[in-house]
Formats: sequence, C-alpha cells, structure tokens
Amino acid sequence: MVNKVLVRPAWVKPSIRALPMRTLRQARNVHSTAKETAKDNSIETTHFGSKTVAKSEKEKLVGSVFSNVASKYDIMNDVMSLGIHRLWKDHFINKLDAGKRPNAKEPLHFIDVAGGSGDIAFGLLDHAEHKFYDKESTMHVVDINPDMLKEGEKRAMNQGKYFNDPRVKFLVQNGETLDQIESNSKDVYTVSFGIRNFTNIQAGLNTAYRVLKPGGIFYCLEFSKVDNPLVDTVYQQWSKVLPVLGSVVANDYDSYQYLVESIQKFPEPERFQSMIEKAGFQSAGYEPLTFGVCAIHWGIKT
Ligand SMILES: C[S@@+](CC[C@H](N)C(=O)[O-])C[C@H]1O[C@@H](n2cnc3c(N)ncnc32)[C@H](O)[C@@H]1O
Repeated sequence: MVNKVLVRPAWVKPSIRALPMRTLRQARNVHSTAKETAKDNSIETTHFGSKTVAKSEKEKLVGSVFSNVASKYDIMNDVMSLGIHRLWKDHFINKLDAGKRPNAKEPLHFIDVAGGSGDIAFGLLDHAEHKFYDKESTMHVVDINPDMLKEGEKRAMNQGKYFNDPRVKFLVQNGETLDQIESNSKDVYTVSFGIRNFTNIQAGLNTAYRVLKPGGIFYCLEFSKVDNPLVDTVYQQWSKVLPVLGSVVANDYDSYQYLVESIQKFPEPERFQSMIEKAGFQSAGYEPLTFGVCAIHWGIKT
C-alpha cells in the first residue's frame, strides 16, 4: 500500500489530523463498493426506534416525530442533554474553524443537512464572520421536515440575521438524495444530530460524498457510545427517564421514546467511521465528547 499524507484544504485545522491515505485506485474501489452496498440495502424493513417497520414508512414516522417536537425543539434538546448540547455544538463549530480566509479568492459553500433549527448553520456563519470577517460564504440549510425548517427560518427572522439573506437558502430535501444539490458543489457538509434518523445512513454518506468538492469535508455531530462503565450506568437510567420527562415537558412520550431508541440503534463510532470510509472519504476520524455520549466524525473527499 502506498501511504501518502492527505493534502487538506487550508481551513481544515491540523487537529483534524491527516492520516495515511489509500491510493486513489483503492479509494475509487471503496466508493463503488459503498454504492453497491447502498443498492443492495434495498430491503423491505428497517428499525424505527426499537420497532421494525417498512422502509417506506420510516420517513413518515420520523417526520411526525419532528413535526411534534419542532415548536419545542430547544426544550427537547435541553431536556435530553441537560443543556450540554450547546457546548457540544460550540466545540463542533470551533474545531472545524471554517470560513473564507482574508487572502482567499473564493468564498466557501456550506451545506447543513438535517439543519432544521438553524443552530449549526447560523453558528458556522457567525464563526466565519467573527473570526475571518467572512461575509461572503454561502449556506444551504436543508431538512426533510418543513416544520423544522420553518423553526429555523423563524429563528433567523427573530434574530434579524440570515432571513431573506441571499447567501442563505432553506430547502426541503431528503439528506439521503439531496436531489436539488449539484455534485461537487460544496466545501463543507455538516450534519448535527440528524443522520441517525435517516432510513439509509449509507445512502446519506454516499450523497455527502457526491455533493462535496474534492478537498471538501464531511463533518458530523451525533450521539455515540458511552465509553465509561459508571457513566454508562447513569446514562442508561437517564434514557429510561427521558420519555417520562418528555411527556411532562412537552406532553409527548412517544417522540422522546423514539429519540432514545434511535440513539441506541446508531452504529458504534468505529463502525460509523468505516461507513464514512465506505462512502469514499479519506482521513476519517472521530472525537468522542463527554465520555462518548456523542462524537464528532469527519472525512475528506479527495
Ligand atoms: C434532532 S434534529 C437536529 C436539528 C439540528 N441539526 C440540530 O443539531 O439542532 C434532527 C433533524 O433531522 C431531520 N431529518 C431526519 N431525517 C432526515 C432526512 N432523511 N433528511 C434530512 N433531514 C432529516 C429532522 O427533520 C430534524 O430536523
């Protein structure tokens, strides 16, 4: 195997370490295998939380969960993470450190998938502006659920920023296909607490690879696997209490039950990393946060 050091785009921090890279031929093979696997995966059933449901039904069920929680989305996140999601999201944005550098010619083109609330999209644009005086980079905020997307737009309107802004577009799209997003058009693909809800996660990763330009980065924040037995015991107990809290805070037991189960069903970090590699990404890696309660995953398109 020929090992090369990956050439990263200048704005990808050194902390997102360059790992030995496969040869281009291997990379192409990995990518086509990923596509084949995605095709072969067209089985009839999948999981919805702990239940087995028809694949065609899952999208609707997930849709109704997020339509139910859309207007109470902040409360939901605060309840589920004890407010820590705000720290995770800040770290996610700071670690990526993306933005058009003052001497760069071209702005960056971001896409935030499953971005409903706008938390990540607006945070990324704020970071680019405050740190690099970047007011040119563009953002597509996409989500499968129009209700979630409306919450993001409402938030933009209320904060008086990124609403009716030609740089920022809100678009209803399934992250598995991103039909309206051109191939090789984006520099940064982010997805935060969204990909575990996809019916076909591998298809979502393959699509992320498709829409990114060579040199672009896939960058994901998602619940993960707790790596400390003591913390895990507490976490398991907390997971049992969550649906009850959901019913008290938002009068919605079932949606919270689904969210807990969807976390339990999500692949362990090593397996998720191998799915990212299967899609064709190089230099894939991850950073566990808060004893592995969640993790940041990344990969670079070569
Ligand atoms: C927990 S919210 C995360 C929202 C936001 N990214 C954040 O970090 O606060 C999950 C989002 O994933 C969206 N979603 C679920 N399946 C999707 C899919 N296949 N394509 C695009 N978005 C999807 C939901 O509609 C919902 O808005």
